[in-house]
Amino acid sequence: MNAENANFLPVELMIEVPEVDDQHAELFARLAHLKDLCIEQNCLPVKEADELFEALCVHCDTEERLANEAGIDFSMHAFKHQKMLRGIYRTLQEVRDGRMDVFSLIRFIEYWFERHIIEDDKPLGTQLQFRATHAFQPQRGEHSMALQLAHAG
Ligand SMILES: [Fe+2]
Repeated sequence: MNAENANFLPVELMIEVPEVDDQHAELFARLAHLKDLCIEQNCLPVKEADELFEALCVHCDTEERLANEAGIDFSMHAFKHQKMLRGIYRTLQEVRDGRMDVFSLIRFIEYWFERHIIEDDKPLGTQLQFRATHAFQPQRGEHSMALQLAHAG
């Protein structure tokens, strides 16, 4: 993990899947940077806000790919991602239209993001670790159940 970004990810939010933890750390770093820019400029830095949203979308795709590769049902998690992304996108629009201030937006994203990691990503991390540890790997001289059955028949 990028050492600078690592400082932004609290230990209690780590899910012990390096690719996901790296992205979470990067997202928190982006959020902190966005907050600094908001304080400096007292408005929404459009480019950085768009990049943060794009990074969030990429991150959601990463989790979906990892779950699919491990054979984990991701339908409910994907639904929550869509809900989170829609909510953040809508809030970004409200800030752009002047109906919400930038700091409410940042609080909103932080709240959603932390809650999502605790409620959904941590259980996903546990499942991914379990699948990685218990993946079937034939030992030397050991055959798959299908092969054993074929030989027995
Ligand atoms: Fe997630």
